Amino acid sequence: MTIEGRMTGHVALITGGGGEIGTAIALRLASEGASIAVADLDLEKAEITAQKVIAAGGKAAATGVDVSKAESCEAAVEATMAAFGKLTTLVNVAATITPDGTVETLSLDQWNDALGVNLTGAFLMCKYGVPKMRAAGGGSIINIASQLGHLGVQHRSPYCTTKAALIFFTRILAMDHAADNIRANSISPGFILTERSSKRVGGKDKARVINGPRHLLNRPGEPEEIAAGAAYLASSDASFVTGTDLLIDGGYVTFKGRMDAAGKTSML
Ligand SMILES: NC(=O)c1ccc[n+]([C@@H]2O[C@H](COP(=O)([O-])OP(=O)(O)OC[C@H]3O[C@@H](n4cnc5c(N)ncnc54)[C@H](O)[C@@H]3O)[C@@H](O)[C@H]2O)c1
Repeated sequence: MTIEGRMTGHVALITGGGGEIGTAIALRLASEGASIAVADLDLEKAEITAQKVIAAGGKAAATGVDVSKAESCEAAVEATMAAFGKLTTLVNVAATITPDGTVETLSLDQWNDALGVNLTGAFLMCKYGVPKMRAAGGGSIINIASQLGHLGVQHRSPYCTTKAALIFFTRILAMDHAADNIRANSISPGFILTERSSKRVGGKDKARVINGPRHLLNRPGEPEEIAAGAAYLASSDASFVTGTDLLIDGGYVTFKGRMDAAGKTSML
């Protein structure tokens, strides 16, 4: 592991840090020199990620957080301050598993749960994180959105809506805190091969076959490919980048498939 790197002296708080993309981001930012606060609803998973960072030669601390709850977000930021003394980088990865359905079949509680974690969670983490980042002289916020915040999928309004809103929220965040030297950007991954995303189609092997061809590059992405983008946005290499959404989607959003003479469409 390289300890002297682009992120030396930085402290990154990663929500959903116990998940697969969150873990990849933690390992990557640590490899570039950042100290990592791993926060997750599942404390055991957060601790496993922190141990992986430490085993690789980095600095990490784990904390439990429910990003849908204000006091829990405040406590996660305070735990980061207690562990590392400052906050320069906030990566909002946490998202809940959202149910499929229409306005007629989804309950209000299901809708509110999706908003509470996927959207309000980022709002709350920023609410408590921004003052610490300002005190540190600035920093970078990265919100993990989705290609499905760009393209809708039938029966998935809770997920698609919250991710689209997260992209827009990020733009306003960038405007509101540019003067604080805080940059804010989102990343929209394509289909990334994780347990969570593969479960919908019955496992990773099936996901490769079913979801791979939906991308121009004819394969799903890997968590490390999202982590590489997060490391760029977190670092001074992205010092002139704010208010943008970085599609790391293998061409998913660009690709419209083929249409035959009868108008029937198919994916390549
Ligand atoms: N995997 C993909 O194909 C894909 C594609 C586009 C976007 N994304 C986004 O990337 C992110 C990570 O996805 P992943 O595939 O690594 O999923 P994952 O399930 O491995 O990670 C999500 C993590 O969020 C945590 N979490 C859930 N609710 C929480 C809460 N209330 N408070 C704090 N933590 C909470 C979970 O415990 C989990 O560890 C999500 O935001 C997801 O929407 C994933």
